[in-house]
Amino acid sequence: MFRAATDRGSPVVMTSSAPQQFWNAGRYRDRAPYVAALGAGVVEWLAPKAGERILDVGCGDGTLTRTIADMGARVIGLDTSSDQTEAATRLGLDVRTGDVGDLDDIAIFDAVFSNAALHWVSDPERAVANIFRATRPGGRFIGEFGGVGNVRRVTDALLLSLGERGFDGMEVWPWYFPTETEYAAVLQSAGFWVERIELFERPTALPGGLAEWIMILAQPFLSLVAEGDRDGFLHDVEDRARPVLCDAKGIWHVDYVRLRFAAFRPEEAQ
Ligand code: BEZ
Repeated sequence: MFRAATDRGSPVVMTSSAPQQFWNAGRYRDRAPYVAALGAGVVEWLAPKAGERILDVGCGDGTLTRTIADMGARVIGLDTSSDQTEAATRLGLDVRTGDVGDLDDIAIFDAVFSNAALHWVSDPERAVANIFRATRPGGRFIGEFGGVGNVRRVTDALLLSLGERGFDGMEVWPWYFPTETEYAAVLQSAGFWVERIELFERPTALPGGLAEWIMILAQPFLSLVAEGDRDGFLHDVEDRARPVLCDAKGIWHVDYVRLRFAAFRPEEAQ
């Protein structure tokens, strides 16, 4: 069903020369459990029904995919990272390793779902066009990911600390954080009818520090810095961001902004 991904350690596919993001499913599950936990709201929007065929794009370690399967749906998970898909397989899920931009011989789903993944997609128009083709007429595409302004306080500190070292972090910027208007236009151009699209702030407390968040989730920036300077760099970023992201008790809060949407593929014209 899916074209195989190049699979050495499972990078997110960006441009060929861009530094890559590597996923370690165990570390992700243990140190970023809030990603799946906070996905409960978008699962409510999906409202999966028993027997429905659902594609979970960017399923990660399969935590939410399992939740959807436990509601009775027949789910297939898709993720670029083989480490993540192996973890999802261990949860008893039907999972493929691949990129939504490369979906080819398309199966047809009642719904396509995605949580906290679409901001990693390098070609959103192509991804949404593929998702449209994978959705049956009358089916739905329900998702949530980072919207405009997402993690801005983190990236401000990252870019300034990189700049001090002579690097332009924008050259390795790995994410797509659109406005509601921009993403609604992408959905509509692919053929979807957009029922709802909302942008909202969701500051999120971290179990570890900001340095740990960067090491797990923002590797393209870190890869610019020589290994011997990484601890110093992370220390500088934390010092910069502490006044705006760390509370009096020493708990770090990342300034997540979510874009959540419900879109439908129109029924075929009679
Ligand atoms: C997010 O879920 O918004 C996100 C995750 C990792 C890096 C950047 C943003």
